[in-house]
Amino acid sequence: MAVVKIPDAGGDSMTLVEVDGHFFPKPPIQENPIDVIKGIRDLPIREDDVFVCAYPKCGTHWVWEMARLLLSEDTATVINKEKFMIEFVGNDVLEKLPSPRILNTHCLVEQLPRGVFEKKCKIIYILRNPKDMAVSFFHHHKKLSKIYEYDGKWENHLSLLMDGKVDYGSFCTYLKDWAAIGETHPDVPTLTLVYEDLKEDPLAGIRKLAKFLNAEKSEEFYLKVKELTSFNTMKEKKGSFFQADDGSPVMYRKGEVGDWKNYFTVAQNEAFDKLYKENMGDCDINFRYTLK
Ligand code: A3P
Repeated sequence: MAVVKIPDAGGDSMTLVEVDGHFFPKPPIQENPIDVIKGIRDLPIREDDVFVCAYPKCGTHWVWEMARLLLSEDTATVINKEKFMIEFVGNDVLEKLPSPRILNTHCLVEQLPRGVFEKKCKIIYILRNPKDMAVSFFHHHKKLSKIYEYDGKWENHLSLLMDGKVDYGSFCTYLKDWAAIGETHPDVPTLTLVYEDLKEDPLAGIRKLAKFLNAEKSEEFYLKVKELTSFNTMKEKKGSFFQADDGSPVMYRKGEVGDWKNYFTVAQNEAFDKLYKENMGDCDINFRYTLK
């Protein structure tokens, strides 16, 4: 374990913590993050725990809030999902939370608590096209300056991301690891939701999620969930939980499909496609990079 400074090609560096060969963010909440990260595998798990899992910047906050509303029916509380993140919050806090807990993480499948597989907890897995993820992660790293101390340029950040030298490592490794969960853990109920599909038809995603969680509700309630989890409502209600130095909300930036076109040069796009193809091999995921 160590706090590490990852240099980019432009002379800027990103501060991360390295635990057992994996990069994590310097946790924003916990005083002693390393013990928490090292304890993830042995975290006590309840049968009715639900996990929301995604590579960073793929819509974790959005889907976590949908699941919270469906399971709790509590439309009044405004709560920060980071308080339920297993790499930042220890069991001393998590054990006091009422059931069902909606936990969340950006960890790989095999880094999840053993109890998830023993108790066959429900897992909601979110996919987002990796080009929009790359743009979102760039802003995330720059805006959370107290955590990452990073002020690099887009092109150098893209190289870091493509080399897997960011928190949670290579996105290709992550995508392949999670794509295999049906084979590695066929008895664990997993629902995959896709960011672009949710943008296109949020109600369909909310209904699917409700069914998976055995939390089916009226159409009226689904409409309420849609409204409460719209980008603008979440930005307004939750934007203050993580703010950049300029006061902008870090977790609610644009919330669009296709913003990558404003960032990738033709050469960067080709290099990205090449890396994706070479790394993903047979595991190609049919991402949508634009919506009609
Ligand atoms: P952008 O930076 O492209 O805007 P995560 O929650 O995994 O950190 O993902 C953050 C990304 O999801 C950000 O993408 C953020 O704006 C977007 N997002 C957050 N809430 C959203 C919502 N309610 N609807 C659509 N996108 C949302």
